[in-house]
Amino acid sequence: MRVLLTGGAGYIGSHTALVLLERGHEVIVIDDFSNSSREAVRRVEELSGATVRLVEADLADREAARSALAHVEFDAAIHLAGLKAVGESVEQPTRYYRVNLDSTIVLLDLMRERGVTNFIFSSSATVYGDPQYAPIDEAHQVGVGVTNPYGWSKFMNEQIVRDAQRAWPELGAVLLRYFNPVGAHPSGRIGEDPSGIPNNLMPFIAQVAVGKRERLSVFGDAYPTPDGTGVRDYIHVMDLAEGHVAALEHNAPGVSAYNLGSGVGSTVLEVVRAFESASGRPIPYVIEAPRSGDVAETTADPSRANAELEWRTTRTLADACRDSWNWQSLNPAGYGA
Ligand code: WQD
Repeated sequence: MRVLLTGGAGYIGSHTALVLLERGHEVIVIDDFSNSSREAVRRVEELSGATVRLVEADLADREAARSALAHVEFDAAIHLAGLKAVGESVEQPTRYYRVNLDSTIVLLDLMRERGVTNFIFSSSATVYGDPQYAPIDEAHQVGVGVTNPYGWSKFMNEQIVRDAQRAWPELGAVLLRYFNPVGAHPSGRIGEDPSGIPNNLMPFIAQVAVGKRERLSVFGDAYPTPDGTGVRDYIHVMDLAEGHVAALEHNAPGVSAYNLGSGVGSTVLEVVRAFESASGRPIPYVIEAPRSGDVAETTADPSRANAELEWRTTRTLADACRDSWNWQSLNPAGYGA
């Protein structure tokens, strides 16, 4: 297939591009490089030995996107483009809603104009809000207890996709609810390159290990979890990338939602210890107050994706720590070096 990959120069996009190319698909990346790098795409080409068609445009800008894609043909779209920093979304809600909603709306309209019916959307476990039970399956309520505009934008996008599909029954739309993506390609050539201070746990730990930051702040140690720190389902980004390709290849008319997670929960301190043993470096930490909006535990029940997409995770937290450390130590300045 000729796959339009929006946000394809970003962290998840670059790994997804690589897996698509390795499976023989053609990849057209559309990205505005607001939080991503051309170098990532160049390295994907180098790793795969294939060529990526690169379109630079802001997908949320209808006229810009339409003209940039005027002569580009594609059979499917994987929509990853968007803003993703939870704290920033609280400070800049209108920007988050504009970018994250308009990009989806523009893309769906372009697809309908061209009769392209295979659509994969990057959603998030954040749509489950404060989980009522764990592991979470797709029947869990959504949109209750979401705490920030980023999370609401994912929830609203799911609704937009459902309504668009109701009005256009040929559309096959897959909502992929990611748990916590971590790790990097084992080559250490592509990985996560956060700008500024990382918001997420694993890139922050990696920067402590490499000596870029002094210590980790652990947000809360009195949750009802085995050691009191928050439990999350960390999924290796290569497993996640493979999940997108499985969704693409199994897509059929209708809307379906899938959890992409491992089904295994890990505490913050378990991640710290796993990273220490992968890197051979100590990770100093201090316990601090819980972060506002955080929940005690999110763990996926991935059985629907396992059964219907014939997909499952094959990499462990230890693998993710090894690959994240490899990427971090080979690229201490990210792609900016
Ligand atoms: C994991 C655990 C923290 C940083 C967020 C978004 C979600 C998704 C992924 C964004 C928690 C603890 C973290 C630190 C810590 N989308 N922690 N010290 O919050 O589960 O999910 O990122 O792109 O929508 O909400 O991930 O990596 O921030 O936190 O103790 O410096 O690590 O409290 O228990 P989270 P995370």
